[in-house]
Amino acid sequence: MRIRDSGMPEEAYWESLFDVPFILSRLGIERFRDVAELGCGYGTFSVPVARAIAGTLYTFDIEPGMVARTQERARGLPVVAEVRDVMADGFGVQVDAVLLFNILHCDEPTALLYHAADALKPGGEVLVIHWRHDIATPRGPSLDIRPTPEQISHWAGATGRLEPTGAIIDLPPWHYGMRFRLANTSSDH
Ligand SMILES: C[S@@+](CC[C@H](N)C(=O)[O-])C[C@H]1O[C@@H](n2cnc3c(N)ncnc32)[C@H](O)[C@@H]1O
Repeated sequence: MRIRDSGMPEEAYWESLFDVPFILSRLGIERFRDVAELGCGYGTFSVPVARAIAGTLYTFDIEPGMVARTQERARGLPVVAEVRDVMADGFGVQVDAVLLFNILHCDEPTALLYHAADALKPGGEVLVIHWRHDIATPRGPSLDIRPTPEQISHWAGATGRLEPTGAIIDLPPWHYGMRFRLANTSSDH
């Protein structure tokens, strides 16, 4: 199922809204080997992530046009970009980090976070960024469906699989970031 309010503006405009190297460095992306991403979009994050990590980036989008654009930009890089409905089918890979960027305003965030936890190898992390909910921003889903960091933490906890690690990360001017690791429960062993 396509995530609500997940349509994209024109590529150059979308990419003017992010300081991608800054965001990836604040999240410590280079610590991870294999990474999975929900929603490659134009490959805005996919291509720099693939350059920063030691392993493979697996990235999925429900829109064939987005996958084609990302494949084109990622030629020669360790990127597997495929059409996949992640809400319906999960990620289908095992990785060291899962990226949920600008996407947790979906209808079923706990189910999505559960899929993300399922895709993590031991020691892995779910990395989230989202548009701030408390200020007007030039893009992003409507304010009434934007999650707060507290809601995201609550949904992660509701999976029974994830717990926050580190503080909320300020990603000025319009975003914040969060990191979650696998909770130390007996089902992880
Ligand atoms: C707001 S964009 C974010 C793209 C990218 N994460 C970024 O920040 O540049 C959301 C993307 O998710 C894709 N998408 C929506 N629902 C999806 C689903 N169920 N499975 C996979 N991709 C989906 C959309 O087609 C769109 O490209």
